[in-house]
Amino acid sequence: MKIISSPLELKEYLKGENNSIGFQGSKSIGFVPTMGALHQGHISLIKKAKEQNELVVVSIFLNPTQFLKGEDLDKYPKKDEADKKICKLSGVDVLFFPHVEDIYGTDEVTLSAPNVRGYVLEGNSRPSHFNGVLTVVMKLLNIVTPTRAYFGKKDAQQLNLISLMVKQLFMNTQIVPVDTVRESDGLALSSRNVYLSSKERVEALKVSSSLRAASSMVGKNILDSKEIVKEMRKSLGDLEIFYVEVLNLDFEQLLHVEIGNTIILVEVRVGTTRLLDNIWL
Ligand code: PAJ
Repeated sequence: MKIISSPLELKEYLKGENNSIGFQGSKSIGFVPTMGALHQGHISLIKKAKEQNELVVVSIFLNPTQFLKGEDLDKYPKKDEADKKICKLSGVDVLFFPHVEDIYGTDEVTLSAPNVRGYVLEGNSRPSHFNGVLTVVMKLLNIVTPTRAYFGKKDAQQLNLISLMVKQLFMNTQIVPVDTVRESDGLALSSRNVYLSSKERVEALKVSSSLRAASSMVGKNILDSKEIVKEMRKSLGDLEIFYVEVLNLDFEQLLHVEIGNTIILVEVRVGTTRLLDNIWL
C-alpha cells in the first residue's frame, strides 16, 4: 500500500498507474473519503470499492472546516497507526493522508451548501458544517478524480448534498451509497461512539430501537408521518432530541411514508455526544 500526503504527488501517481505498461485504457478508481478512527462502517465502504474498481484510494483527513467553534475537532479520536493497518489489511492501494496545509491555503475559495437542503436537520443545528463538508469533498474528488466514490447512508444528509453537488457541478464521479453497519445490538457504528460512557451507550440504544419501532409500524401499514414521529419520540424517552423527520429522498417532508422513497431520520444528544441515525424504507 502506497501512503501519500501531497495532493500533487497523488495526482502524478494515479496518472502513472493509468499509463502503466501493458494496461489498456484507464483503470477504474474507487474512492473512500474518511476522517479516520476507522471502524467496520468504513471497512464496508472500502470492501464495496474493492469489489467495483481496479484501484482503491482511501483518504484520512480530519477536516477542520466542517467543525464549528466549540465542537470536538481537538478531541476527535485519532488512530493513525491502527488506521494504516486496517487499510493495508483491507487491500487499499493508496492511502491519502494529507496535512491541513496540503489541502487549505489562505483566502480560500469555498463552496456553500444550498440554502434549503443545507440548513435543515443537522445543517440547522450546525450552520456552515455542510459548507466545510462540500468544500473538502470537492477538493478530494478533484485530486483523486475517481470513477466512483463511496458514502454511508448513515450520514444521509451529507450523502444527499454530495450527490447534489456532483450533479449540479457536472462532475464525473458516480456517488455510491452504502448501507449502515451496526453493532449486534443495533447501535450504528460511529467514530464518535468512543465518547459514550457505558451508561450512555445503553441510553443510545433508544435511537435504533425508535427506528425499529417506526419500521414495524410501517410493516403494519401505519404510514402517517405524525403517528410515526409521535411513537418514535415516545421510545426516545428523555433523550435531548434535535429532530425526528419523515422525508423523501429529496429531503422534502412527507405526510405519509412512501415505500421506496422515504428516509426517517433522527438526531439526539446523549451526554455531550450527538448521535445520528436513520432508516430508508
Ligand atoms: P467519517 O465520519 O469518517 O465517515 C466516512 C464515511 O463513512 C462517510 O461516508 C460515512 O457516512 C461512512 N460511515 C460512517 N459510519 C458508518 C456506518 N456505521 N456504516 C456505514 N458507513 C458509515 O463523513 C465523514 O467522515 C466526513 O464528513 C467526510 C465525508 C470524510 C468529509 O470530511
